[in-house]
Amino acid sequence: MEELRRMIQGIKFTQLIAGEVFRIEVPLSREDMLELMQRNEPIFLRHIQPIERILPIHGGADDLQELSDLVRNARKRCEDGLTAIHIRRVEGTLFPYSAADTKAVLDAVIMELGGETAMQSPDRILSIFAGHNELYVGWGTPAEQLSDWPGGAVRFQREEGQISRAKFKLLEAERAFKLYLETFREALDIGAAPGGWTQLLLERGLRVTSVDPANLHPKLAAYPRLTVLKKNASDVRFPPNTFDLLVCDMSWSPMQMAKLVLEKTEALQDGAAAIITVKLMHKKPLQTIRDVVAKLESHFELIKAKQLFHNRDEITLYLKYKKA
Ligand SMILES: C[S@@+](CC[C@H](N)C(=O)[O-])C[C@H]1O[C@@H](n2cnc3c(N)ncnc32)[C@H](O)[C@@H]1O
Repeated sequence: MEELRRMIQGIKFTQLIAGEVFRIEVPLSREDMLELMQRNEPIFLRHIQPIERILPIHGGADDLQELSDLVRNARKRCEDGLTAIHIRRVEGTLFPYSAADTKAVLDAVIMELGGETAMQSPDRILSIFAGHNELYVGWGTPAEQLSDWPGGAVRFQREEGQISRAKFKLLEAERAFKLYLETFREALDIGAAPGGWTQLLLERGLRVTSVDPANLHPKLAAYPRLTVLKKNASDVRFPPNTFDLLVCDMSWSPMQMAKLVLEKTEALQDGAAAIITVKLMHKKPLQTIRDVVAKLESHFELIKAKQLFHNRDEITLYLKYKKA
């Protein structure tokens, strides 16, 4: 909210789910607002759903009927291409239908109009948010909504043999930053244990050097492309121009982490990518982020900063190293 408040004068907030979902009113057109959010994407906003219609919820069969009529009347929007239907509900909403039942009915309406629905790679998303006594309905492309997942909540399936949940953070970063890990060759993983990120990098075919005083999961020993340095990262040195990817998930003091990363830049190739999590330990997250980014910008260009769905009290930075 603070980020948006600083960006848009006169913005008004109404909480829908405390600390998670809010409704905003802005003195901007729909187009200007969506364009602003894409040009200047907020770090802490994962999803935005334009509200084009608000339907009062009566608590009976009429609700689904009115929603179906609304979609039927928007025929033009569903005729071409693929529409994904995202439905979210606040706890205790008076809307009596489950997301699955609502989706099944709207799927049928869109098909009846000659359109097609899909979960993956849609051209547009019909988003419905069931508040306590109102339905908020809007359409937008995945880019306009900042995500093609309902509420920006990217879910990954836990795999058999997965070493840590931290792996999801790197998987999500890959998607969010449109970064293709398999295009890199030589990665340095700082703060690697127990090894979720290292595991993903190895699975993508990279050679990986993992640094951590703690133990990596023993199953990683099976990878000949892995070098493990069981040390504090400040005690290791590498030959110049070794790595084209640096990942760092140390959960440590942000400024100490930035200092340590900068000490390792000699070992990076010019243009190397860096994915770094920044722990937000103190009260002023925006100030912490500004300070860390300012420090890193002495050697890196910031491509994007985002609080990913799988980040808790942290954000993820995507940077590019520029050799002086
Ligand atoms: C959140 S865990 C990393 C999880 C990892 N990304 C994964 O996918 O399994 C943080 C790790 O950073 C390590 N760490 C903290 N400070 C470090 C330092 N100075 N040098 C190396 N590792 C450090 C800790 O030992 C810990 O294992």
